[in-house]
Amino acid sequence: MYKIIKKQILSSSIKLMEIEAPKVAAKAKAGQFIIVRANETGERIPLTIADSNKNTGIITIIFQEVGYSTLELGRMEVGQSVTDFVGPLGKPSEIENYGEIICVGGGIGIAPIYPIAKALKNAGNKVISIIGARTKELLFWDDQMRQISDELYIATDDGSYGQQGFVTDILKNFLEQRKQIAKVWAIGPVVMMRAASNITKAFHVPTIVSMNPIMVDGTGMCGACRVAVNQETKFACVDGPEFDGHLVDWDLAERRLNMFKEEEKVILDKKLWR
Ligand SMILES: Cc1cc2nc3c(=O)[nH]c(=O)nc-3n(C[C@H](O)[C@H](O)[C@H](O)COP(=O)(O)OP(=O)(O)OC[C@H]3O[C@@H](n4cnc5c(N)ncnc54)[C@H](O)[C@@H]3O)c2cc1C
Ligand code: FES
Repeated sequence: MYKIIKKQILSSSIKLMEIEAPKVAAKAKAGQFIIVRANETGERIPLTIADSNKNTGIITIIFQEVGYSTLELGRMEVGQSVTDFVGPLGKPSEIENYGEIICVGGGIGIAPIYPIAKALKNAGNKVISIIGARTKELLFWDDQMRQISDELYIATDDGSYGQQGFVTDILKNFLEQRKQIAKVWAIGPVVMMRAASNITKAFHVPTIVSMNPIMVDGTGMCGACRVAVNQETKFACVDGPEFDGHLVDWDLAERRLNMFKEEEKVILDKKLWR
């Protein structure tokens, strides 16, 4: 059992939890994730390791309540324990000294971009971070991002905080002005990662995205997390979750993510009213 030792409500639908998982914390690296099952009858859901501490054995997760399993996890309180907490899973990010890099985090994508930006900063890169959300209420960890970034830019769709517009607008501006950007990491909703990859492709800037397909076993056995990259089939849980954004088949990724929309709605309605 894995104890919840801290719970923080970051917005009406976004929660942070610190979980005691010393074996996971001992090995966790930027870019990796865990699979959590809240209780015996729960569904296994993948969540990024937003932060980890080897000394305290604590893993931080940040999640948006979008369906039944994330809502169920969000209802748990400090002192309770989750049944399964498996990880670290997935390949770590390739952290090197590239020079000047841009980290883009959209919406809940701020959680996975934070450990990557932090690791890139520690490796000596100049880190320019661009984070954004639909509105100010949904934007979190701007202070943490500021601490590990050389420059931080904020965008909200409605202009309630930072610049009005999308993170991709700021990204495009940057690439037009600064020619020396060595690499971009872009993490967030598929539509955002797709748009960011299209922009960077035009500027020939290598771009890494973190794919978030539906996962089941997280070990490469079930095939649920299939993505097509450079026309080859890859499994996001073992070959990723990070891939070259210029080579991802985005149409397929969008189709597969929406595959169970009806079923997800039915289970949410059924369980919420029970
Ligand atoms: C490697 C990886 C890391 C992830 N890290 C995080 C994280 O740090 N924080 C976080 O909040 N979420 C993260 N996700 C997404 C998270 O796993 C899903 O939101 C969760 O499984 C949804 O479960 P649910 O039962 O609550 O909702 P469901 O009932 O399964 O889905 C409800 C709604 O959410 C949409 N949805 C389902 N799965 C995803 C998904 N993978 N991505 C986007 N939308 C989805 C559905 O289309 C549906 O509209 C990650 C996914 C992957 C693969
Ligand atoms: S989740 Fe089963 S193969 Fe990746």
